[in-house]
Amino acid sequence: MINSTYILIIILLLAFLFLLYNIIVWLIVRVPHVKSSQERLTLIFQNLKINSNSNIYELGCGTAEFLFQAEKYQSASLVGFELSPLLCGYTKLKTKFKKSKVKIKFQNFLKADLSQADIIYMFLVDQAVQQAWQKIKQETKLGTIVIILADQIKDVQPDKIIDINNSQTKIYFYKV
Ligand SMILES: C[S@@+](CC[C@H](N)C(=O)[O-])C[C@H]1O[C@@H](n2cnc3c(N)ncnc32)[C@H](O)[C@@H]1O
Repeated sequence: MINSTYILIIILLLAFLFLLYNIIVWLIVRVPHVKSSQERLTLIFQNLKINSNSNIYELGCGTAEFLFQAEKYQSASLVGFELSPLLCGYTKLKTKFKKSKVKIKFQNFLKADLSQADIIYMFLVDQAVQQAWQKIKQETKLGTIVIILADQIKDVQPDKIIDINNSQTKIYFYKV
């Protein structure tokens, strides 16, 4: 009886700490962690050419599914930026287990050097996307491909728009 009460208290405490952690991260980052679905990633890779010189960045990478899948194309480098400590630690561990060459940086992408990027992927919220674009267009080379799930860059014509079956959400491809 006492044991099960203790277990219940520990579970509630852990759930509370996890909730608190997520609230604190959200207050700092202002972007919730939602994963890009496999269906959407498949559509992106069907429309993207990656070669052995490509430097690929994921801004706000979470568990970095995009980068892990991009790794199959033998690109030059794969770098993800993530500000949530738990997600960052988890994804770094995943790179070790998978013996992957994906590099995860615990860093605000708005303060990172993006100048070497050839392909940039992001799935954020509108305000973060607009901020990222201001940095990308100043810093990256002409021809850098920017792929955004869900949000559009204001007043910039996308190179390509991909529709997703049974969804209002679209995938936008831009070129710097
Ligand atoms: C919607 S999730 C997308 C995760 C992953 N890119 C995917 O598509 O599955 C956005 C992630 O970006 C992270 N993030 C938001 N702003 C950031 C910033 N300025 N620097 C680094 N990470 C950021 C959040 O912590 C969150 O994990």
